[in-house]
Amino acid sequence: MGKVMIAPSVLGCDQGNLAEEAIALQMAGADMIHLDVMDGVFVPVLTVGAGIAASIVRRVDIPVDAHLMVQKPSHLIKAFADAGCSYITVHAEVTSHLDRLLQQIRLAGSKAGVAVNPSTPVDFLRWVAPAVDLVLIMTVNPGYGGQKHLGCVHDKIPETRRILDSYGGGGALISVDGGVTDANAEELRSAGADILVSGSFITSSDDPAAAIAKLR
Ligand code: DX5
Ligand code: ZN
Repeated sequence: MGKVMIAPSVLGCDQGNLAEEAIALQMAGADMIHLDVMDGVFVPVLTVGAGIAASIVRRVDIPVDAHLMVQKPSHLIKAFADAGCSYITVHAEVTSHLDRLLQQIRLAGSKAGVAVNPSTPVDFLRWVAPAVDLVLIMTVNPGYGGQKHLGCVHDKIPETRRILDSYGGGGALISVDGGVTDANAEELRSAGADILVSGSFITSSDDPAAAIAKLR
């Protein structure tokens, strides 16, 4: 296992200054920026579109992962790929045609991610493993920052690694998102997480650089 990557979510940042906020997080040691895109349908909240993603990508030197919590991602993939997002992550729950969506992301020029809600089993990964570059395991129900971390989901991490490795997805990364703090980072890492997404623990802290260092 290489070094763990820390991906701060900008959901809790000043929404009118996201590019500046992302630059500050990069300077604080972030390895990746996690952009939570919500449509007000798949989740109740509405956040940002591809224009904001492009303005962040232009200003930082680290990869941006667009986490699309939207009911119809196929309409948005090209725009987020053109915006320069390194990863575009769609939810498994919104489509009967996941393989097609993942192919669409790669064809558009980004790396293909799939997110799974806490109650979604991961056995389907067997059938799409070669098409996946990243699996985002949700440890909260998506929609809000600052929720309680669901430790019961941790068993999914080694299960996901085993399925990916066995069925042609050995190069795919595992990312964990939701309530990630210094209280669970070590356990998540030992379970096999490659990327730790963390929002409020970093962005509500007085010292984001120290918070990132603690997670690492
Ligand atoms: C939840 C989002 C997460 C969230 C993380 O809907 O996908 O990325 O912003 O924030 P914390 O770390 O506060 O749970
Ligand atoms: Zn997220």
